[in-house]
Amino acid sequence: MSKTVLITGASGLIGKALTKSLLNQGHEVRILTTQKEKISSKSLPKTFHWNPLLNQIDRSCLDGVDTIINLAGAPIAQRWSTSAKAKISGSRTASLSVLLEAIVSENAPIQHLISASAIGIYVDSKTRYYEEKDDSYNDNSFLRTVVKDWEAAVVPFSEKGVKITILRIGIVLDGHSGALPKLMAPIKNFVGSPLGSGDQWQSWIHRDDLVAMFGYILTHECEGTFNAVSPNPVQQFELTKAIAKILKKPLILPNVPKAILKLLLGEMSAIVLESQRVCAKKIQSTGFKFQFHEISAALSDLIGPSPSS
Ligand SMILES: NC(=O)c1ccc[n+]([C@@H]2O[C@H](COP(=O)([O-])OP(=O)(O)OC[C@H]3O[C@@H](n4cnc5c(N)ncnc54)[C@H](OP(=O)(O)O)[C@@H]3O)[C@@H](O)[C@H]2O)c1
Repeated sequence: MSKTVLITGASGLIGKALTKSLLNQGHEVRILTTQKEKISSKSLPKTFHWNPLLNQIDRSCLDGVDTIINLAGAPIAQRWSTSAKAKISGSRTASLSVLLEAIVSENAPIQHLISASAIGIYVDSKTRYYEEKDDSYNDNSFLRTVVKDWEAAVVPFSEKGVKITILRIGIVLDGHSGALPKLMAPIKNFVGSPLGSGDQWQSWIHRDDLVAMFGYILTHECEGTFNAVSPNPVQQFELTKAIAKILKKPLILPNVPKAILKLLLGEMSAIVLESQRVCAKKIQSTGFKFQFHEISAALSDLIGPSPSS
């Protein structure tokens, strides 16, 4: 059944691909953007302006909408200065609270909210294999606090009768943006090597599988929290080796020491140094089928030679 979907953060890595896919499937899509210049009466899909951090939203974006897909948030991959931290966290919680206020004040009959979250909710561990229920381990790290607050901001929607789904997204692999081009650049220039100890788990997902998962949850109206990762996470050294193999480049340097990464990236080095081995069984048990199970297949699809070359 076709839906009318409002997407926030639609200009990003996931949002762009998702918008295209939902339109191809015949859903009606509306976009809520922070970029004023994108708005014109002729823009398609219909586009509306908001600025969650300033508590601004064009409430007409909700007209006729049954489902909201929330992807909005300031980029995490930036130096975590005090002001960046406030923006990373505030943009995520404010997006949800501004949407909720608008729904309540418009009495908008939204049926379903599908909201992005991240596997950064799981505490750094090289031995645990995380299922969705394992989110109660705690520490005071910035990453954990951001994701916990982000997920907590989804809960009030259910009190208003909205079905809620949270997708804890792993490292999204895309050939042109996100983590993969950043990992490829040094390897292409013969200075690639595993990061830190290299044995930290990296739970990845091919962009197309993630987009398919959002579409599946939308049409099957799956509720609850799901890990959005491929069934086969890899350790960092395996990911580095697999990229080098596809690019046909040697890895000649020793691992980049943790201390250097901390010096270069500051506290944000947690993104590459933390280990989260995350399980995909729950979404598979609903009947969702992954296209890319293994890292080698995902990488050759994204960055391998084209079939005709
Ligand atoms: N990519 C990954 O590997 C990954 C992994 C785990 C979780 N996630 C989460 O999934 C969501 C989508 O990921 P993505 O990779 O597509 O992110 P992205 O490329 O950074 O896009 C996020 C979008 O959020 C909007 N945005 C930026 N700053 C904002 C602010 N201050 N207030 C409100 N909206 C703002 C922007 O859209 P407009 O300019 O149109 O407003 C931007 O295009 C993000 O929240 C991200 O944290 C991503």
